[in-house]
Amino acid sequence: MGLQSGSLRARLVLQLLVVAAVLAVLLFFTVRYTADRAAEATQDAILGAATTSVAEQLRATEEGVEIDLAYSTFSMLGAIGQDRLFYRIDIGNSTVTGYDDLPLPEQRPTSLAAEFYTAPYLDTKIRISAVSRTIVVGTSPVPVLVMIGQTRQGQAAIAGALANRAALLGFGFFVLAVPLSLLSAGSIFNPINRLAEAVGRRGPRDLRAVRHPTPRELAPLVAALNGFVSRLRGALSQTETFIAEAAHHIRTPLSTVRTEAEIALRQSDNEATRIRLRSMIRGVEESARSASQLLDHAMVLYRSDQLEMVEVDMGQAARNVARAFGPTAELKEVSLIVLGDDRPLPTRGDPLLIEAALRNLVDNAIKYSPEETEVCIALSQGNGMVKVRVCDQGRGLSGASMEQLAQRFSRGGNVSDVVGSGLGLTIVTEVIAALGGEFLLEEQATGGTCANMSLPQH
Ligand SMILES: Nc1ncnc2c1ncn2[C@@H]1O[C@H](COP(=O)(O)OP(=O)(O)OP(=O)(O)O)[C@@H](O)[C@H]1O
Ligand SMILES: [Mg+2]
Repeated sequence: MGLQSGSLRARLVLQLLVVAAVLAVLLFFTVRYTADRAAEATQDAILGAATTSVAEQLRATEEGVEIDLAYSTFSMLGAIGQDRLFYRIDIGNSTVTGYDDLPLPEQRPTSLAAEFYTAPYLDTKIRISAVSRTIVVGTSPVPVLVMIGQTRQGQAAIAGALANRAALLGFGFFVLAVPLSLLSAGSIFNPINRLAEAVGRRGPRDLRAVRHPTPRELAPLVAALNGFVSRLRGALSQTETFIAEAAHHIRTPLSTVRTEAEIALRQSDNEATRIRLRSMIRGVEESARSASQLLDHAMVLYRSDQLEMVEVDMGQAARNVARAFGPTAELKEVSLIVLGDDRPLPTRGDPLLIEAALRNLVDNAIKYSPEETEVCIALSQGNGMVKVRVCDQGRGLSGASMEQLAQRFSRGGNVSDVVGSGLGLTIVTEVIAALGGEFLLEEQATGGTCANMSLPQH
């Protein structure tokens, strides 16, 4: 569980460090072993040279063999450390000088080439070099064996010093490996971070496949991501079609039911049935209104996610909405007037979103106004904004705040007689937020309500 969710970087660094530690220990032992061998070989060479030199100086005389132990021979050996020296010279089968208990080689050397061996002697271990030669004494050849032994304190000291160096080397190697493995672990994850950055930088509308160059190992991830993106693109375009089709498919049968119910209402004389039919018509009206507002709301949410910014003349848009509401206003005997000059009110945005917001404001103004009143749409621009102000002489907000009324499905306490779903102002505030505008709904001192909507001037 920890390994699955933990940091890959930490795992990689840990693995690299374990490898580095193993290598450091190996390095230590290799250096130490090699140094030991080298020190021993050097010591052996000196020891062997000294032994050979002693053997070469043996001379046959008339009385026997003359032994000349030159001081220089031993000083050469004494030069290394505090080591003790032991020697033994055997002529024939008897020791003629030196320590006669100095251990003999396992095999008697056959020439002046030195034989080396390590043997315990007295309280310590010594390294012994042995050579042999034959000397003719009188008429008969006599075998001579020369051995020189030396304690190994000097070599041990050298080996100890070298071991310290090796340990330092190993430790240094490991210490160097720490930042290097951190660095390399970081660089391995750079392509992943760059890919994440490239995907994160994309705008909400950018649903193209990811073409960012990545290492081969990331190809499955990128392929999965691209598969996901293309499924999302498919789902979104399906949603768009669905919203359009659903609106049509819900509204059409509802309007049939409504027409049928109205015909039945006209034909019926029974008061109880008429009451039922009226409440049925109202229910159908409410359903139709809810369906159409819900779908409008879905459309607004979808389109604000995929904002398509084009130049829109808000003045023209307001006049279009006013014209579309002309029949509704006439039916209620409300006079709908547009004030302000004919200059364009240029802004940038999605024309469908702007129209949906304006439609809901004019709809509310007419809907919540009594008959034979005036609804006024005033167009203006200033302070870098283009503004539409929709004022009515209706019932007002009876104290409810704009924030409250703009919530989803929230309706005022004074509107139960009017059909509505409580989504109109939600749609307006969402459009305003998506396009970076301002919205204010205020009750006028003289009665009635004013809705102010402004968008940045383009
Ligand atoms: N011009 C207005 N005059 C009086 N009250 C208003 C006006 N505009 C909005 N309101 C109040 O704000 C509430 C919320 O308005 P909103 O447009 O969101 O919903 P609705 O009109 O009730 O339903 P629908 O979603 O069908 O438009 C309304 O129920 C009403 O109480
Ligand atoms: Mg409304």
